[in-house]
Amino acid sequence: MINLANINGLKISQNNNSKRIIDIELKDELVDKLIFPFHKFNVTALEYKPFTRFTIAKSLDDLTENKLSNFLKLTLRDRDTGCAIFKTNNNNKKIDDIFLTKLSTAIAHLAGVPNYDSMSGKYYVRFQVKHEDQSDSYLRKAYINMDLHTDGTYVKEITDWLLMSKIEEKNVEGGETTLLHLDDWEHCEELSKDPIGRQNFIWGAPKSKNVDYKVEHPVFTNDKKGKVQISYIDQFPEPKNMEQGNFLQKLSDALEESKNKIISKLPVGSVIVSNNYFWLHGRKPFKQNKNLCRELLRIRGSFFIN
Ligand SMILES: [Fe+2]
Repeated sequence: MINLANINGLKISQNNNSKRIIDIELKDELVDKLIFPFHKFNVTALEYKPFTRFTIAKSLDDLTENKLSNFLKLTLRDRDTGCAIFKTNNNNKKIDDIFLTKLSTAIAHLAGVPNYDSMSGKYYVRFQVKHEDQSDSYLRKAYINMDLHTDGTYVKEITDWLLMSKIEEKNVEGGETTLLHLDDWEHCEELSKDPIGRQNFIWGAPKSKNVDYKVEHPVFTNDKKGKVQISYIDQFPEPKNMEQGNFLQKLSDALEESKNKIISKLPVGSVIVSNNYFWLHGRKPFKQNKNLCRELLRIRGSFFIN
């Protein structure tokens, strides 16, 4: 387990719900210091000029004694943790959607390089979950449980990590974030050893994802140290026979019935970053409300190769 660092401007602690999650609170004094370097670029500049994203990431690292980048890298790669939640003061008026977009960008560029998000055509996507939805995936269906899954299952890009920021929330009850670490999952041993889980599955995505190809990979693989990794989401594998279909059903049931899920309410202004190989994430259904609105920002990417 990594040592909790002492970094100026941050309060770093173990999350109340799980010792595997590291809480990183940004103090207001750090937010104040970030305002100036963040003002140097508007969001369009960040979208059009990739190097500017590294400039604001460097500002964040400089203002945290050049320790945050390393601490984040260690946290995300450490099998025992692999997840950090950045928190900001919700009463701080300087923290708005633009600030959170820039903060998320800076954090992501300390973790690695973002993938192109085909949903938006940018390195990030902002999307809303509302009462009504016409889309073709569970992502924006407010009243249906979003089952535990990993990201990047149907794309060619390497998805080492994922970042989700809560930009806004109104009239929300329910909709808690669910997380499960593979090593806490009761059925990991049994299902990851099943030869069917090691077979290649075909993965395709519905239209809204704007990905016009399919990929093939197994559900379970092993990392260099022999630790089990998972790449799975319920909606996108296309089983080609009864064996594969039944395996996926068993897997889905075994994940959802886990007693070791971590269920948490993430406040507006929080940014969660997790290792996508051994953390699964999902969302509980929201309580019905016509005026329900949640806006999230997502970035997915790979670690720096060095
Ligand atoms: Fe996801």
